[in-house]
Amino acid sequence: MLGAVQLGLLAACVVLFVPMGMAGWHLSRNKVLFFSGALFITLAVGVHLTPYFPSVSDFVTSVSSSSVDVVVDDRDSCVSLLHEIVWEVRPGRVFDFGQNNNSVNYDKFWSWKESGSVESCEFQRLKRHDVSVLLNGSWVVVAGDSQARIFVLSLLGLVLDSEGMESVRGSLFKRHSDYHTVVDEIGMKLDFIWAPYITNLTNLVAGFKRNRVYPDILVMGSGLWHMLHFTNASEYGVDLGVLRSSVMSLLPVSSEFGNDEAVSVANSVSSPSVRSPAPHLFWLGMPSLVNSMLNTPEKREKMTDKVWGEYEREVQGSGMLRQFGGPFQLLDIGSLSWNCGIRCTDDGMHYDGVVYEAGVHVMLNALLIESHQKL
Ligand SMILES: *[C@@H]1O[C@H](CO)[C@@H](O)[C@H](O)[C@H]1NC(C)=O
Ligand SMILES: *[C@@H]1O[C@H](CO)[C@@H](O)[C@H](O)[C@H]1NC(C)=O
Ligand SMILES: *[C@@H]1O[C@H](CO)[C@@H](O)[C@H](O)[C@H]1NC(C)=O
Ligand SMILES: *[C@@H]1O[C@H](CO)[C@@H](O)[C@H](O)[C@H]1NC(C)=O
Repeated sequence: MLGAVQLGLLAACVVLFVPMGMAGWHLSRNKVLFFSGALFITLAVGVHLTPYFPSVSDFVTSVSSSSVDVVVDDRDSCVSLLHEIVWEVRPGRVFDFGQNNNSVNYDKFWSWKESGSVESCEFQRLKRHDVSVLLNGSWVVVAGDSQARIFVLSLLGLVLDSEGMESVRGSLFKRHSDYHTVVDEIGMKLDFIWAPYITNLTNLVAGFKRNRVYPDILVMGSGLWHMLHFTNASEYGVDLGVLRSSVMSLLPVSSEFGNDEAVSVANSVSSPSVRSPAPHLFWLGMPSLVNSMLNTPEKREKMTDKVWGEYEREVQGSGMLRQFGGPFQLLDIGSLSWNCGIRCTDDGMHYDGVVYEAGVHVMLNALLIESHQKL
């Protein structure tokens, strides 16, 4: 398109300025009109004949389609750069020597890597107002184990003030229970579903299907409970396969992931008639485990690096994730926690809120990319 527009502008300039230039050479007004008319006709005929000369039209279409390709590639490559996050972890100002190497003794900061390709994606740490606009009127469901619970806390931390957070913290940390809230100011409904096993997630999806109601954003993931209580990666993989096919049957048949059909979270609210039935799907990856820090002998025995790797491979092999042809965009808590490091965890399994906060920002930026929005 760009090529055609530029050619048109060029033609208009020629028609306008060439006769004007000639007028400068003391041609009579009639001659100027004549040249102007002749030029106009020549260009018009040229433009209309262009399609019959393949080389020219090929050139024009190659220009226009390559500029489209660049945009699409940008989106895909930016999604793949979302986790290019670097951490700065340094001793806090209030160093509590009583608690040796406890993560509270360290301040942590994260930011996207300062490299050309990452910077060109213009990722941003969204402020409360931006998050409110993006999530306005949406229904968010987060399901999983305690990692998912901390993720919810980080997400709410971006939309609530500190007073609101105090009351949330108490109720959200009741062990092993669901949590529901509506943030009135932005009409955001948020459900946390306690789902320590993949089978629990599959049941949840079955419920959505039965009731024919789907959240706008669905974040799920579990694995650690299975790792501890069953310690059998291939069984975990079988469960993942069942979940995947259940999720796939929930999506519109024609849906191609990441295409323009993905209605923005905000747009889906302003025009409910075009609401896409397909939720934005995110997979909350398992955290890195620091075996020596795990707090029971059973955990240290069963949740080894080797077993962790086997579980991780099952997730990749199951085809759950977008990069392996699946429906879920990965929120890679594994890499975020690994890069933050052992100073960011006390029990080698649950990490400081800041790790999940980074995950929330990855999700929000992915949503912005999916919905072609810039704030
Ligand atoms: C604290 O961390 C330092 C450096 O990582 C390590 O050498 C030391 O053994 C740790 N102390 C405890 C009590 O874990
Ligand atoms: C949320 O959407 C409603 C209705 O479209 C609008 O009135 C309100 O201002 C929005 N709030 C924010 C924070 O964007
Ligand atoms: C999750 O699944 C397990 C095993 O299938 C089951 O025993 C448990 O009751 C389920 N928990 C919830 C909260 O649904
Ligand atoms: C894992 O489970 C499968 C199927 O139940 C079983 O055949 C296999 O022996 C188990 N593997 C281990 C290491 O227990």
